[in-house]
Amino acid sequence: AGETLVDRFGRKVTYLRISVTDRCDFRCVYCMSENMTFLPRAQVLELEELSLLARTFAELGVTKIRLTGGEPLVRRNVMSLIQDIGAIDSVTDFAITTNGSQLTHKALALHEAGLDRINISLDSLYEDRFKQLTRTGSLHQVIDGIETAAALPFKRVKLNAVILKGRNDDEILPLLDFAIEKGVDISFIEEMPLGQINEHERQETYCSSDDVRQIIAQKYRLVPTTENTPGPSRYYQIPGIKTRVGFISPHSHNFCDTCNRVRVTAEGRLLLCLGNEHSVDLRAVMRANPSETEPLKQAIIQAMDLKPERHHFTTDGDVQVLRFMNMTGG
Ligand code: GTP
Ligand code: 5AD
Ligand code: SF4
Repeated sequence: AGETLVDRFGRKVTYLRISVTDRCDFRCVYCMSENMTFLPRAQVLELEELSLLARTFAELGVTKIRLTGGEPLVRRNVMSLIQDIGAIDSVTDFAITTNGSQLTHKALALHEAGLDRINISLDSLYEDRFKQLTRTGSLHQVIDGIETAAALPFKRVKLNAVILKGRNDDEILPLLDFAIEKGVDISFIEEMPLGQINEHERQETYCSSDDVRQIIAQKYRLVPTTENTPGPSRYYQIPGIKTRVGFISPHSHNFCDTCNRVRVTAEGRLLLCLGNEHSVDLRAVMRANPSETEPLKQAIIQAMDLKPERHHFTTDGDVQVLRFMNMTGG
């Protein structure tokens, strides 16, 4: 320890999000095109490289690691990586973001490996609509996975719902009621313009967090919580109810000034911000220096100077980020 990661704006980086694969068993409309081509195997980081990255970032003061995808649980042998990271003492908050398709079988092993928190995407409670939104997903499998995870003593299980006007904005209250019934948290997410997705018109489906909050306010009283973490989510509590309600609003609420996070893509690019393309090729550094860790450390420390002050997402279809969401896992 001792070393820490600080950017040009004085923000301390303590949170690393790692995409362990760009592949997924779903094809959500806001994330992927129908016919995606995935990275060739050789371009994706090896599990050993992912493990080394996690340890190196932990030595540089990162205490929070989240695995994302694509779908992290479709990566072969991913459990060995999860065990490795679960064993790093200084990583006190270890989480995964998943589509839930495999949780029925894997949630117990995840808990035993030391995972603290699980986020599960859930955008609809209707089987046919769930199929339209995910193209290949099966709702009852995901619900089963959510129930399995909710029954285990994780520090936290949270649902993520991306709300799209005309597609699932009539399910805001049913989704919240479902979370309350299962005793888990839920975040409502504004759609972000990542990747050029042809069949999907973003301007027309955009739904702001304020709109969502107004609908919830018709039934529940939302009290802002004080424990607002540095990060995109703003959390609310409903008096007398365990479920916390989060809003992730990259458009309507800018949270960049407290940003504490960086990301590594499946091919080992260190991304300093979700909203632009500044990156450093850590795969090249690791592969050029197979038995040394110092060059990797130095590359990470120097990369902090590239972290921009803020993202520049727009809702008018002016897409600046060509990466698809499955490259970064959000
Ligand atoms: P924690 O911060 O670890 O509690 O979880 P989270 O809710 O941020 O993570 P999750 O992977 O569940 O992501 C939920 C949504 O937040 C996704 O749509 C992400 O794309 C979005 N998100 C997460 N981090 C950022 C960020 O730094 N910037 C923006 N614009 N969106 C983010
Ligand atoms: N905008 C906002 N959220 C997205 N997600 C995937 N694509 C987008 C997008 N374009 C969400 C998923 C999942 C999380 C990892 O990111 O629903 O919950
Ligand atoms: Fe897969 Fe998640 Fe993208 Fe859906 S949003 S296609 S579940 S990576």
